[in-house]
Amino acid sequence: DWNMGSFVDQSVAKIQAQVGNKRVLCALSGGVDSSVAAVLVHRAIGEQLTCVFVNHGFLRKGEAEQVVKTFRDGFKMNLVYVDAVDRFMARLNGVTEPEQKRKIIGEEFIRVFEAEAAKLGEIDYLVQGTLYPDVIESGTATAAVIKSHHNVGGLPEDMKFELVEPLRDLFKDEVRALGREIGLTDDIVYRQPFPGPGLAIRIIGEITEERLEILREADSIVYQEIKNADLYRKVWQSFAVLPAMKSVGVMGDERTYAYTVGLRIVESEDGMTADWVRLPYEVLDSISRRIVNEVKGVNRIVYDITSKPPSTIEWE
Ligand code: XMP
Repeated sequence: DWNMGSFVDQSVAKIQAQVGNKRVLCALSGGVDSSVAAVLVHRAIGEQLTCVFVNHGFLRKGEAEQVVKTFRDGFKMNLVYVDAVDRFMARLNGVTEPEQKRKIIGEEFIRVFEAEAAKLGEIDYLVQGTLYPDVIESGTATAAVIKSHHNVGGLPEDMKFELVEPLRDLFKDEVRALGREIGLTDDIVYRQPFPGPGLAIRIIGEITEERLEILREADSIVYQEIKNADLYRKVWQSFAVLPAMKSVGVMGDERTYAYTVGLRIVESEDGMTADWVRLPYEVLDSISRRIVNEVKGVNRIVYDITSKPPSTIEWE
């Protein structure tokens, strides 16, 4: 007879037995898996756990603040918040090629993470939010954080951690149930997937402060309107993209020349294939009106009506 309460007790005992009085590190992304894994490990070993959250500057509106509020203020975890925004921006200056963006962000993430780990002194274990499907897929669970969040090869050779993987036997819906059981809010437990490189791969072309600001605001409106329409949990992902493209518009007596924002709202089982959501016209209309009215620098909204394949979910 399997129930969540006894699963939590067993996991806690198992984590305590594994790590003893050693110290444990966790790269917290704010996503479902790393959040649930971190809270579970924290319940088991408390102060022995340190979480590192890297703000690379490509997060959604309010996301960094929410992570700090939830885990440091709410759960009272040791949370190291790293503001690496300038570093990442500097390295991405002039970069337009999608895989190049991913590579740079992945590498830079490892550097930042390593530097923080070094400051913490002796650490033996690393928490990884590996799920059962990841275990089957990859055969072995390589270092964590990085593969799942950043699509790069793994941690550097000289970072020798043993892994703590409390979600290894679970499917996604079980992870969500577990998350609720241990006190995470629906906000986190039902969060849509978000790519490790974040908004950097949703700005098509060069990343600038101005474009980031526009995309962040537009994306926040998409989120609010999809939530208001009670669709957030029903769709796989819903977000805005910003092609580096301007077109002509008109406002009052003035011609405008401003950015186009694309809307990407898809349903999917696992992200491998996807279809665009037949969103009610009223919802499309309110998203469109709000973005052009509220986000300076945008005068046109388009809806992406392609499935995957042949498109991908992300535009980069
Ligand atoms: P695509 O665009 O390939 O996306 O149809 C499939 C799923 O993967 C996510 N995605 C990523 N996740 N790092 C990630 O952690 C990445 O570089 C990345 N690229 C795509 C995407 O959001 C979708 O859920």
